[in-house]
Amino acid sequence: MQSFSNSRWAAALFATLALGLVPLPVQAQTTLTLKTSSVDLPDPLHQFKGEGADAVNNNCLACHSAEMIQTQPKLNAATWTAEVNKMINVMKAPVDKADVAAIVNYLVANYGTK
Ligand code: HEC
Repeated sequence: MQSFSNSRWAAALFATLALGLVPLPVQAQTTLTLKTSSVDLPDPLHQFKGEGADAVNNNCLACHSAEMIQTQPKLNAATWTAEVNKMINVMKAPVDKADVAAIVNYLVANYGTK
């Protein structure tokens, strides 16, 4: 009789645990409501303009704003080249090597020492 009593106890314990693990049916009726909030898209005024601007807009605005470039002191060609290479090599900017010259030319023309 000792073994019968033990197995009943085990069955009761199992039932208690199982009940606790079964999710209640009411949870399946929960509805998911998506919300839309307004966002500010990048201001076109804060992109680069003029001849050759596309190369800079396409390569240099993914991580920071144009102001990061526009607020720097005027730099010469060698320093702008080093800066673009720093973005590529250190910051891992995904810049096509073929675009580097166009980027540097634009930066020197607009933000370079005369
Ligand atoms: C992969 C992301 C990424 C891209 C793309 C990127 N930058 Fe940066 N840039 C950074 C980070 C990170 C910093 C450092 C910000 C800080 O110090 O808070 C930075 C800083 C700068 C600075 C400030 C001076 C300095 O060296 O910290 C300049 C100027 C700059 N970037 C120019 C550019 C130009 C030009 C391009 C396009 C060729 C470019 N960035 C593209 C990530 C990027």
